[in-house]
Amino acid sequence: MTALAERTTQASSLRIDQDGAYLGALVSGIDLSKPVSEADLAAIQQAHAEYGLLIFHDQKMSSDDLIAFGKRFGSLSVHPFAPNSGVKPELITFRNDENNPPFGTDCWHSDETFRLAPPMGTMLRATDVPSYGGDTMFASMAAAWEGLSDRMQHFISGLEAWHDFKVFKPLFGETAEGRRQMRDYEEQYPPALHPIVTKHPVTGRHVIFVNPQFTMRVKGMDEGESTALLTQLYDLVKVPEYQYRVRWQNNTLIFWDNRSTQHYAVHDYFPKRRFMDRVTISGTHPLPAFDAAEQKVVRNKKARKPEKFFNDFGGHGVGKG
Ligand code: SIN
Repeated sequence: MTALAERTTQASSLRIDQDGAYLGALVSGIDLSKPVSEADLAAIQQAHAEYGLLIFHDQKMSSDDLIAFGKRFGSLSVHPFAPNSGVKPELITFRNDENNPPFGTDCWHSDETFRLAPPMGTMLRATDVPSYGGDTMFASMAAAWEGLSDRMQHFISGLEAWHDFKVFKPLFGETAEGRRQMRDYEEQYPPALHPIVTKHPVTGRHVIFVNPQFTMRVKGMDEGESTALLTQLYDLVKVPEYQYRVRWQNNTLIFWDNRSTQHYAVHDYFPKRRFMDRVTISGTHPLPAFDAAEQKVVRNKKARKPEKFFNDFGGHGVGKG
């Protein structure tokens, strides 16, 4: 039994066993359809931060049980674009089969970083999954930080990047009404500026907090510099040592720490059926691991342009065409 599990009460049968070098732990000896004691809750909370990903197998529970368990960790957020059951908007219902191919999750990401305060964690439960295929992959972004050279750590310390909901923009369509709706969402979810290196609020570990699904651009860099840097940071999820792969069974529930991990849903099962329920727990603004680096205007030395250029854009302007 791990030290974490030992912190629970004598009566508890909770077990938490580390299952991956950098992230992932198996949780057993608990029935999540029943009320969870405060002591077990505290142990799960600590393990969630420490291991980044918790896997609970054989959890026969209703969607109401899932919602109730999620609420023990904070308020549940409503995803602006993901499918939900209507009556319970905080319950995301992925119902993928031959008539409904999966969308948008086969890309490495942390959930909803287009929000100023992205979720602290997400619970996903399998209700009907294929006998193989449809795994979910995870990467520890704390391990990714620790694996960087001193020089690279120094270089990215204090940088910030813009995130937005770009992946969902095709959902609005090309009609005037679609464009109007998109403008409304852009007002509601303006680009969010997050530190590239965050400090985990529980463990204090440093974490690389950019992802290819939602991150747009590094503040204070021109496009070429930003793309080169972000591509290098995105590629860190591909390091096998930083990864953990969840092989689903019906009634498996997982709970990941959205502050320190990225995930990727493997879309190799289509057209087979894969039904999942998800709840997302609200978070707080990501904490910077370092003070923001001084941001000067992006220079363009090639044409030796005067500083004024950066204010009047050579006469370009909206509505002049
Ligand atoms: C998600 O990205 O929230 C879904 C992950 C999955 O379906 O495995």
